[in-house]
Amino acid sequence: MAAQAKVRIIAIMNQKGGVGKTTTTVNLGHALSRAGNKVALMDLDPQGQVATSLGFDNNLPGLDRVLIEGLALDEIIVQARDGLDLIVAGSKLNQFEHTSEGGIQRGHRLREALQQSSLQQYDYVLIDCPPSSGLLGVNAMFAAAELMIPVSGDYLSLQGLSRMMQVMKRAEELAGHRIRLWLVSTRMQMRRKLTTEVRNRILKYFPGRVYFTPVRENVALAECPSFGKTIFDYRVNSPGAEDYRGLAQDVMSGRTADG
Ligand SMILES: Nc1ncnc2c1ncn2[C@@H]1O[C@H](COP(=O)(O)OP(=O)(O)O)[C@@H](O)[C@H]1O
Ligand SMILES: [Mg+2]
Repeated sequence: MAAQAKVRIIAIMNQKGGVGKTTTTVNLGHALSRAGNKVALMDLDPQGQVATSLGFDNNLPGLDRVLIEGLALDEIIVQARDGLDLIVAGSKLNQFEHTSEGGIQRGHRLREALQQSSLQQYDYVLIDCPPSSGLLGVNAMFAAAELMIPVSGDYLSLQGLSRMMQVMKRAEELAGHRIRLWLVSTRMQMRRKLTTEVRNRILKYFPGRVYFTPVRENVALAECPSFGKTIFDYRVNSPGAEDYRGLAQDVMSGRTADG
């Protein structure tokens, strides 16, 4: 709807749980806003952990109301930090996964809602996706022009990647637009041989698509959500903060591991 959309809509997705999707959404989002960008975080995971990680209640009107009832996105945006807005999942988002009325158009609800919202004027919209490729995942793929896949430093995290690629190809066909792919190494235990092996593997299979900065396993990153704080609220000088600052620079400049 808005004439000159500048927004980068990035879906943070991996069908595997525990790889750092939510941690990346929240802390990359805050890093991007601290670097002067206007950012919105969207919680498309019915678990609602983006809200709680930022110290908010997921019980607010959220994407559940948008996707199920057609409420406008602009009605539910809340400010979480300077330059950082939040769109919660809402307590009924899992019901959307089971709605059957609306046919294939149901896959386009988020994209349509975004096109009619003031989010078009933001710099970044980051979408935290559930660990499944159901209707919510489809909505994310159709809405986003970019897909960021966190890959944690363990072997199991490589499995499912090829399935993700198939899902993405299919989404590109159905959505009729190209989706730009990025991978980010998360939860890296740098002294472990396996961690390096997994990173080398994704570098080989996805040349030019892996962001430069690996996010290390850092206890402060695991602690801060229980206080409703991002890593920048909680430990601004921690390795976790350093890594997400670095990743934000990568995202802004397109800097990848192999140049
Ligand atoms: N870099 C990291 N260092 C330490 N703990 C992390 C890191 N990234 C994520 N975690 C922790 O791992 C768990 C899973 O992360 P989360 O972001 O919730 O994954 P997902 O959203 O993919 O399921 C959480 O307890 C989180 O605090
Ligand atoms: Mg999550």
